[in-house]
Amino acid sequence: MKSLQSYTSQIELELEKLALPHSPSNLYDPLRYFLKIGGKRMRPILTLMGAKAFGIQPEEVLPAALSIEIFHNFTLIHDDIMDQAPLRRGKETVHTKWNENIAILSGDVLFVKAYQALALQDSKHLSELLTIFNQTAIEVCEGQQMDMDFEERSNVTIPEYLEMIRLKTSVLLGCALKFSGILAGTTKENCDYIYDFGQYIGIAFQIQDDILDLYADPDKFGKQVGGDIISNKKTLLLLKAFELADKNQTSKLEKLLTEEEELKKIGQAKILFNEIGAKKACQDLMQTYYEKALTAIKKVSVEDSQKTELLALASYLMEREV
Ligand code: IPE
Ligand code: IPE
Ligand code: MG
Ligand code: MG
Ligand code: MG
Repeated sequence: MKSLQSYTSQIELELEKLALPHSPSNLYDPLRYFLKIGGKRMRPILTLMGAKAFGIQPEEVLPAALSIEIFHNFTLIHDDIMDQAPLRRGKETVHTKWNENIAILSGDVLFVKAYQALALQDSKHLSELLTIFNQTAIEVCEGQQMDMDFEERSNVTIPEYLEMIRLKTSVLLGCALKFSGILAGTTKENCDYIYDFGQYIGIAFQIQDDILDLYADPDKFGKQVGGDIISNKKTLLLLKAFELADKNQTSKLEKLLTEEEELKKIGQAKILFNEIGAKKACQDLMQTYYEKALTAIKKVSVEDSQKTELLALASYLMEREV
């Protein structure tokens, strides 16, 4: 099996080939910076691994894989503005290092660059790829808007949360995998099952992301720890805490949301969530979605041996610390 590192290097190499212009520097320097500071590259790797699973060479899907990673990076630059995040991948975010207007515009260019990359994919499948890509891009925006709307609401339900993360995060993983199915010319059923696999992995991944946001090791995480609770994000941790809290704990949670001192708020959230058992409840739901993903990939009708890499990547993602 090809190592994860060699897949990552393959994507990094393609990103370098983008050969971004140098002027205007305030448009392109932030992009050069952002694309160089790392990232797991797991979405394009899903496309490459999906290609192998469906019996074609990863090289045949490289433009599509690259477009997914470029699009993802665009969403991160804008997400960091919306979330007022200071850190990403262990480095300053674009809007912090430059400014918000620069982050908006360089993000916009990256969005177009994603389409430029996709347009290099073979014309036979381009229309089908574009249809799913466009739908995915719109859904990500819908999820992002819901995420921000939820910050102001106190009655968000867990089904609403699950729909929000399906949109903001999971559909892109589904799309990355469906791209490989479309390009390999596999059956519609296989395309749908591999998409479901991606979506369920994505939901588990975002639940993990919510847990890490509060509990990660700040030296490894690469993002600000506690950013979600500072903004009163309706993460699964918070929603589970409200669901499981007794009367006394509920009033403590309500008070927590009005705490203005950031470090105090983060510390209190950890204590309260532990006391209530919210972290364990999130881990259980994450495991449920991981298992749904495994059920979906079982239905993909290719030899089990063809699925090994995808299964290994999924399992690796569930253990991540960054
Ligand atoms: C971050 O995605 C955004 C989420 C959907 C949680 P990743 O954790 O894949 O970010 P990078 O690309 O590896 O930095
Ligand atoms: C981001 O979710 C999802 C997208 C970028 C579309 P988060 O806001 O939780 O991602 P991080 O934690 O900043 O990576
Ligand atoms: Mg966000
Ligand atoms: Mg964010
Ligand atoms: Mg997050």
